[in-house]
Amino acid sequence: MLRMISIVCALLLGASLVYAQSTAIAERKDILKGFGAAARDPGAMLKGEAAFDLAKVQNFLKVLQDGSPKLKALFPADSKSGGETKALPAIWDNQADFFARFDKLAVDAKAAEVAIKDEASFKTELPKVLGNCGGCHRPYRGQ
Ligand code: HEC
Repeated sequence: MLRMISIVCALLLGASLVYAQSTAIAERKDILKGFGAAARDPGAMLKGEAAFDLAKVQNFLKVLQDGSPKLKALFPADSKSGGETKALPAIWDNQADFFARFDKLAVDAKAAEVAIKDEASFKTELPKVLGNCGGCHRPYRGQ
């Protein structure tokens, strides 16, 4: 009987660990998808394919400031695989560098929020923020 109970407990524990791991992957993907969605309009504005809209730009910068600190908690050691993650092992080999990039993204988004007042300042400031995306994806996100 005792053996039965311990087997059931082990199974439940295993299931909850898998659950924790897959929720971290799902949650970080959700936040990053939100980054991508919020970047779409400002990206079009940069290319001159959409009219400059300060409110949409400020919203994007707020989404980044809100999501970056949350993302730092969503790459636990047990979330290296599963959930169709594209996260590369390099993340866990260079954790300090990886997390510092989320700090920098939030700092740069805050600075841009203050600096962007019109279309001209948008065109000089926004690329500095967007550089953080590709800068992190290259070493840390697989194809
Ligand atoms: C510090 C590193 C880092 C920064 C900065 C970063 N990303 Fe990512 N991004 C990742 C990683 C790692 C993944 C893969 C996550 C996974 O699959 O588990 C990812 C995935 C994504 C995805 C795909 C999400 C999905 O699964 O559908 C989008 C979209 C995305 N990022 C957009 C952005 C945008 C836009 C920015 C800049 C505003 C940005 N990211 C900044 C590391 C970063």
